[in-house]
Amino acid sequence: MQIAVLGYGVVGSGVVELFEKHKQGIISKSTQNNLDLKYILEIRDCTDSPYSPLFTKDFNDILNDDGVKIVVETMGGLHPAYDYVKASLHAGKHVVSSNKELVATFGYELLKLADKNNVNFLFEASVGGGIPIIRPISQCLAANEINEIAGILNGTTNFILTKMFGESMSFKDALLLAQENGYAERDPSADIDGIDSCRKICILASLCFGSHVFPKDTFTEGISSIKSEDVEYAKSWGGAIKLIAKAKKLENGKIHILVSPALVQNHSQIAHVDDVFNAILVRGDAIGEVVFYGRGAGKMPTASAVLADIIDCAKHDLRKKLFGWGAPVDDYVEDYMDMPVSLYVRAQIGDFLSALAHVEDVITGVTILKRKDAPGDELAFVTPPEKEGLLRQKLKKLPLNPLSIIRVTDY
Ligand code: HSE
Repeated sequence: MQIAVLGYGVVGSGVVELFEKHKQGIISKSTQNNLDLKYILEIRDCTDSPYSPLFTKDFNDILNDDGVKIVVETMGGLHPAYDYVKASLHAGKHVVSSNKELVATFGYELLKLADKNNVNFLFEASVGGGIPIIRPISQCLAANEINEIAGILNGTTNFILTKMFGESMSFKDALLLAQENGYAERDPSADIDGIDSCRKICILASLCFGSHVFPKDTFTEGISSIKSEDVEYAKSWGGAIKLIAKAKKLENGKIHILVSPALVQNHSQIAHVDDVFNAILVRGDAIGEVVFYGRGAGKMPTASAVLADIIDCAKHDLRKKLFGWGAPVDDYVEDYMDMPVSLYVRAQIGDFLSALAHVEDVITGVTILKRKDAPGDELAFVTPPEKEGLLRQKLKKLPLNPLSIIRVTDY
């Protein structure tokens, strides 16, 4: 049984390295004595690589080779990844992918295609890097009705926010460091604008709630507008700012799904998840709350998840793993403006006392925040929870100029 790896970037090269490092153990766990790596598809010349005999630039070499039973897609992006994955499934090859954009966009279609061709389409590495999450949700927690899933799903932004909080590093320097460490996506805007987290929460929501959820239907906000002033206020409030992705099943049958920065209180398990680490909290009716924690990005953690899927495909060569979700449903995502939320607001004001009186008059029960050396024309506060749309309407009526509005979690 032979394997082909598509793409020799950070993840693909990690997969090859880890396979070679633990080859004997992997072969024995896979129960396939002849499991081996046959091809690496890469458009760049890699003549210096110790694996140079395996390289090809032509996908047809892989597609037309009946010995290749497992295709590992670590290219990223939609095209040609989608086309190669589709062709591989059609040809009766199992596919393992680390590509969250692909799964979030075409997951339902590709799972159906895999089913039709009696092969597996597995993507443990697409969410949470090295953290086991897809398999635990679909297997270990299968007896639960999962009603909520939330957490920190992007290592790069968590690394940046940790550096901004702990070392007062600028956003730009922290991003550069994340890129040097190989955490960031090819285009870092996918990380910092929340797009990567959005893809991951869509995959988890599809898996937990049973219908495909698309990124285009998910409100998404990134971290690039967070300022050092907000960091100071969050500290004085007793918490941190994290990029949170969450999805919740509602009683009306719809789901609430959203990605945005949020203030998280220090007593929350999520507040202390730092650096490149991710944490995913799952709430189920039988289990209560369970949190998965670990390295959410990086070459070897992600390769670890890919290799586990390869082993699973090899073990289930003739017996397909039953797992997946259903077709997308119209009008499935609730308008986030109709959901209750607390907001942190930092605003420019005129007279402090009069602004304060206005705020307290219009929004009952706000908590006023303080920070050292705050200018006299600045006011920061946290509102009690209320429907987000109503809260924002109230804010518009106030005589203040909001500089920053950040949601507050209840996790
Ligand atoms: N850029 C992603 C992250 C890689 O930082 O989490 C793993 O998906």
